[in-house]
Amino acid sequence: MIEPFMKPKDLAYPFSFEDRRLLVENGIFYLPNFLPSYRGFDPKLPLGHPCVFIEFCSGNGEWIIQKALENPDIQFIAVEKLFLRVQKIFSKRENLGIKNLFLVSGDINLLLEHFLPNASVDTLAINFPDPWPKERHSKNRLFHKNFVTHVHRILKRKGEVFLVTDDTDFSIWVSNSMEGQFALLKSDLNRPLENYGSSFFQRLWESKGKEIFYHHYAKRDLCWT
Ligand SMILES: C[S@@+](CC[C@H](N)C(=O)[O-])C[C@H]1O[C@@H](n2cnc3c(N)ncnc32)[C@H](O)[C@@H]1O
Repeated sequence: MIEPFMKPKDLAYPFSFEDRRLLVENGIFYLPNFLPSYRGFDPKLPLGHPCVFIEFCSGNGEWIIQKALENPDIQFIAVEKLFLRVQKIFSKRENLGIKNLFLVSGDINLLLEHFLPNASVDTLAINFPDPWPKERHSKNRLFHKNFVTHVHRILKRKGEVFLVTDDTDFSIWVSNSMEGQFALLKSDLNRPLENYGSSFFQRLWESKGKEIFYHHYAKRDLCWT
């Protein structure tokens, strides 16, 4: 018998804007913006697992789906704010029968601020985040001081961060922001990370001949944390 094949659109957004709330359903944590309060809700993030790998800005999920398939003993969490893209990750996960991937449909900053406890994550990966190249949009860039402090806080001891970008200025921005709280594990940013995998944007920028920067950091244990 042929199993029914799920399409991205088969996953409907579970509530209207007026009825928006925090919800966990089908292995997805729905985390809408603009709620009056985010307190007192348990999103049941699978953080009790011995090895937790989180990806921010997952896009259509190509990279994390492959990683989850290759590493069944690791618990993966994908975070993506655009629901159209969450639908794509979800349908891939269901059609491939992947059990070790939890999804967060919402904003990274809300997740960091309200739901990710201290020392709960082993590894964080961010592939091709929006670089917001114009100075007047720089407030939208990831890797502001508060973001880096949260990332340091949620990582376990010796936790690692991978950041891949095609944008020279953003790569410098990241290097400057990470200095102090993180140690750079490889100095040649142009050297690809071994067996790192690929994503939609990676293939896109490679096909256009763009230079790619691969950052790899370890959490520094700071005496004041
Ligand atoms: C350029 S795409 C890269 C997607 C994917 N990582 C790849 O390499 O193909 C950046 C993604 O980050 C998501 N994103 C940007 N800011 C975010 C935020 N604050 N919270 C969650 N997702 C975010 C966007 O919706 C978009 O899907």
